[in-house]
Amino acid sequence: MTMIDRRMFLKGLGAATVAAAAPYSLVKIAWGQKAGESFTFAYISDAHINHIKGTEFTRNFDKGLERAVAEVNFLYPQPDFVVFGGDLAQLGKKEELDHGLEIMSKVQAPVKWVIGEHDYYLDLGKYWQEKISPLYYSFDHKGVHFVVLNSILTDDHWTHERWSSPAERMGQMARLDNPQGSPFMVKDEQRAWLKKDLEKLDRKTPLVVLSHSPLYKVFKHWNFWTDDAEEVQAILKPFDQVQVFHGHVHQVLYNQIGNISFAAFMATAWPWPYPVSYVQEPNQVPEMTVFMNRADPHSERDGTGYGTIAMGEPKVKHYELWENQPRDLRYDKQAGHPVDTRFQGPDKRIPPQKHY
Ligand SMILES: [Fe+2]
Ligand SMILES: [Fe+2]
Repeated sequence: MTMIDRRMFLKGLGAATVAAAAPYSLVKIAWGQKAGESFTFAYISDAHINHIKGTEFTRNFDKGLERAVAEVNFLYPQPDFVVFGGDLAQLGKKEELDHGLEIMSKVQAPVKWVIGEHDYYLDLGKYWQEKISPLYYSFDHKGVHFVVLNSILTDDHWTHERWSSPAERMGQMARLDNPQGSPFMVKDEQRAWLKKDLEKLDRKTPLVVLSHSPLYKVFKHWNFWTDDAEEVQAILKPFDQVQVFHGHVHQVLYNQIGNISFAAFMATAWPWPYPVSYVQEPNQVPEMTVFMNRADPHSERDGTGYGTIAMGEPKVKHYELWENQPRDLRYDKQAGHPVDTRFQGPDKRIPPQKHY
């Protein structure tokens, strides 16, 4: 399979164009404030650089990130900037963050950083803030207002009192299916900051929000979830055009709530299955989500492919899924939400590969 087969484009036609993929995603913003002001940014997420011992790191995760960086550098024209969507490290260790930074230092474009829970829960973001970036901030780029949130906070008792050591806390938060986990939150202080940050803006200003976890609720037991999501959405609601991009779920995930569009990017490290395919408990995978094929466990890069999404007027998202049919999501003004114009029912999907 060629790389192009695996590529899925996030394209913004007249509004915002983003291309997202794993190893990388490319986002093209053409929200048309001024003619000639459209631009692209690339997105790389969930590298999970994993320290083994000494100078040894998990090879496959290194390679996923290295490949994403190389391919972003090949883009022509170059994206205006690259977003790293969080989970640079696996267990928040300095060795991991340093090694991840070393790989990311090859990126030619400027990098904007979003923190993930795997980067945070060892030292509560201390090293990240010293070496990499503030935990939350905003910036303007060619008429678009970008907000970066730290969406992986949780309650104070869990964070500060419950565990005997920072390493134990990190180990707990690093687990996927964890009964001891605690839901992610943006929390009061940051929501107050967000409200203030947006106050000065005209409601017509295009808004892009970058978070690590989805700013809506998918499946609580895996922390595909932000507990105060509705409160964050209420702050974003007055704006005409809002696009949230996030990592964390390691899969294609798409949702629309009112005027707010949400899109996830795949990981460079490994794919997660959809909760609906794995557990019987109630979950809220959005109806409009295009399911990825099951990853081939014999192919170390499978399930971590490329993606692009096209958005704009008309709002269209085009997905090119490897070993599967492409499909288009088109915004239906009357219905007020996107409809899948080329829906591929389960009977038409290529079944998972079998290995013996
Ligand atoms: Fe992750
Ligand atoms: Fe994560």
